[in-house]
Amino acid sequence: MNPMASFSFATVPTILSAPGATRNLGRELRERFPDIRRVLLVTDQGFLRTGLAEAPIESLRAAMFHVEQFADVIADPPEHVVEDAVSLARQHETELVIGLGGGSSMDVAKLVAALAASTQPLAEIYGIGNVRGTRLPLVQIPTTAGTGSEVTNISIVTTGATSKMGIVAPQLFADLAILDAELTIGLPAAVTAATGIDAMVHAIEAYTSKHKKNPLSDGLARQALSLLSRHLIRACENGHDLAARQSMLLGAMLAGQAFANAPVAAVHALAYPIGGIFHVPHGLSNSLVLPHVLRYNAKACAEQYAELATIVVPHAEGSVEARTEALAVAMQQFATITGLPRTLRQVGITASDLDLLADDAMKQTRLLGNNPRPVAREDAYALYKLAL
Ligand SMILES: NC(=O)c1ccc[n+]([C@@H]2O[C@H](COP(=O)([O-])OP(=O)(O)OC[C@H]3O[C@@H](n4cnc5c(N)ncnc54)[C@H](O)[C@@H]3O)[C@@H](O)[C@H]2O)c1
Ligand SMILES: [Fe+2]
Repeated sequence: MNPMASFSFATVPTILSAPGATRNLGRELRERFPDIRRVLLVTDQGFLRTGLAEAPIESLRAAMFHVEQFADVIADPPEHVVEDAVSLARQHETELVIGLGGGSSMDVAKLVAALAASTQPLAEIYGIGNVRGTRLPLVQIPTTAGTGSEVTNISIVTTGATSKMGIVAPQLFADLAILDAELTIGLPAAVTAATGIDAMVHAIEAYTSKHKKNPLSDGLARQALSLLSRHLIRACENGHDLAARQSMLLGAMLAGQAFANAPVAAVHALAYPIGGIFHVPHGLSNSLVLPHVLRYNAKACAEQYAELATIVVPHAEGSVEARTEALAVAMQQFATITGLPRTLRQVGITASDLDLLADDAMKQTRLLGNNPRPVAREDAYALYKLAL
């Protein structure tokens, strides 16, 4: 670490990590937002079906909040979902937005908070730093332990038929993030595994991010990987293990803080087209390309991978290269043990799709620029071929 290297670091001002906290959501928010009455809850049907939203909603009503729900978020939210949610927020004269769900619901909640009280259209804010003005108060409550969106300043929207685009702006940091493992006990094992691997990828890519890696993001990434790698299998095998679930939420949040400041790179750049075109869940898309990108990047950052290997596979010994390979194998084993598909073929992708994937991946210039090793189109194609 070079103490003379300059960096900046930002995150949300308040994080509440407490199993069961959302049963008292109304009381928590009433103390923090004494003058607010009108709340919009942004969530999705999959989470609502678990019944776990009932207690937090009841407690909001008991604390004299008027609650409106937007429950039409769908995974990898397209633009029309954001626009519909913004309309409802305006109609309802929303004063506070709560994102309650996975990354998809939280990403929509951020954009609702930013756009509902503004005249700016969604189309104007893609990219970095294009949101104007202030936003409505925003509270984020994750129900998956994956994206870390509750503490990031990023929102991902599916544009057109298949592409994904990011909005990055300081206004997208929430006022408050609440981590309550009781909300994640209903998460099926396959979703737990895929979202957990997504969180691990955030930590790994933040740790090797080319330009903005810094002592804070490094510490957070290491702590995140330690928590996530020790609790993922436990959380998959016994979904009701509350300690494992809270550890996963903490790990995903710490990884989110890391990558909000030291951004993700080629694993995500290659994963987005798989999700966008073939509707493969985000975490699984990452998992499918991860070992191949790790081996490809090892030429540029094997030392850093070896440092992470000592956290994920403490028994790994030998040269830097041997420990890097141990990390790649361990990450692949998480997918095997949890029963996730291991190849692109298993999710319906064939050799004739690889050109399209490689073309699309090259559009992710924001992410590819953070990768420790340059990725040309032929490299992207070769990586997809290895993953096939
Ligand atoms: N903003 C960021 O920083 C960031 C980072 C990474 C990914 N993302 C985005 O986040 C999205 C993915 O989010 P995700 O992986 O959390 O999945 P998700 O929000 O799309 O949810 C996946 C599925 O899990 C269900 N679900 C959620 N919580 C549940 C629970 N507790 N019990 C049962 N079912 C539950 C949902 O209904 C949905 O069907 C993608 O759009 C991705 O691009 C954003
Ligand atoms: Fe991700």
